[in-house]
Amino acid sequence: MTGLRHLLSAADLDHETAIAVLDTAAQMSATQSREIKKLPTLRGRTVVNLFFEDSTRTRISFEAAAKRLSADVINFSAKGSSVSKGESLKDTALTLQAMGADAVVIRHHASGAPHRLAHAGWVDAAVVNAGDGTHQHPTQALLDAFTLRRHLAGDADNPDGVGLDLAGKHVAIVGDVLHSRVARSNVLLLHTLGARVTLVAPPTLVPVGVEAWPCAVSYDLDGVIADQQPDAIMMLRVQRERMGAGGGGTTGATSFFPSPLEYTRTFGLDARRLRMLPDHAIVMHPGPMNRGLEISADAADSDRAVIVEQVANGVAVRMAVLYLLLAGEREAWS
Ligand code: NCD
Repeated sequence: MTGLRHLLSAADLDHETAIAVLDTAAQMSATQSREIKKLPTLRGRTVVNLFFEDSTRTRISFEAAAKRLSADVINFSAKGSSVSKGESLKDTALTLQAMGADAVVIRHHASGAPHRLAHAGWVDAAVVNAGDGTHQHPTQALLDAFTLRRHLAGDADNPDGVGLDLAGKHVAIVGDVLHSRVARSNVLLLHTLGARVTLVAPPTLVPVGVEAWPCAVSYDLDGVIADQQPDAIMMLRVQRERMGAGGGGTTGATSFFPSPLEYTRTFGLDARRLRMLPDHAIVMHPGPMNRGLEISADAADSDRAVIVEQVANGVAVRMAVLYLLLAGEREAWS
C-alpha cells in the first residue's frame, strides 16, 4: 500500500504515493456518478472532523467523503474555545481517543497542530491535516493536482490521466502566497509530480525564504502570462483575516498593498488577462473567492474556470485519502 499512516503535509507524498492517491481518487470519482454513491468500505469506522477554524468546502467535503464510504462521522467544531491551545488540543484528543476515533481530520489556526496531534501519543487515530495556520493543506493540493491532471494530462481514452503525472506542465500560483497554506502544499506536490511552478505576488506577500522552495518567483503577472503562457493559473484568496492585528479584521490588508483597487489592477485575474492565456489554460481558485479583488466575476464564471469542479473533485480525493489510511488495499468498492 502507500505506507501512509497520517497525511500531515504534501511533503509526506513521494511521486509513487501521490500517483496512487490520485489514481484511487479516479476510482472513487467513477463511483460518484452511480445512482447509489455509498460504498461499504469504512463501515464501522469512525471519522472525526475537528475544526478549530472556519471552513465551508473542506469540512463538508470531508464529511461527504467519510459518509460515502459508510463511516460514522462526528463533527466537532471547537471554534471559540477559551482553553489555552496546547491543553485544549490535548484534552480534545483524549476525548476523541476515548470515543474510539479511527481518523481525525483536523483544521487548526496554529501551524503544526496536526503534527502534534499525530505524534504526541494522545490518539491512535490516523490524522489528516485539513489546513493548519499558514503551513499546509495537503488534500487541497491533491484535489488541485487531480483537477490539473484531468485537464492537462487526460485524453479521451484516459480522461482522468490515470498513472500519469504533470511533467512539463506549468502552473502559475498568483496572489497572497505569504498567508497561503494552499500555495505551500501546491508548490511541493506539483514539484513532486514534475510540474513547473511560478509564484506571482507583490513582494510584500512573498514569504521570506522562498528561494528554497522548488519554484520560480515573479512580481509581474502580465509578463508571466504573456511570455510564459502557463497551462493553468491558480488564484489565491487575499487572506484579510490573517492581515489585521489580532486577526479577524480587514484593516491590515492595505499594509501589504496600497489599495484593493491597486491590487486588482496589478494581480487580479480579469477578462483581459484571461484572453492572454493559451486556449487550453484553466483557471483555478481554492475558494472562498473575493470576487472583484483577486478574480473578476467574468474570470470566475468563464468556461475556463474549473472552480466548482475542484470542489467536486475534493470529495473523491478525500475518499481516496480516508480509504488509503483506514482500509488499506481491500478493493471493497469495486
Ligand atoms: C483555503 C484554506 O482554507 O486554506 N480554502 C479551502 O480550503 N477551500 C484557502 C483560503 O481560505 O483562501
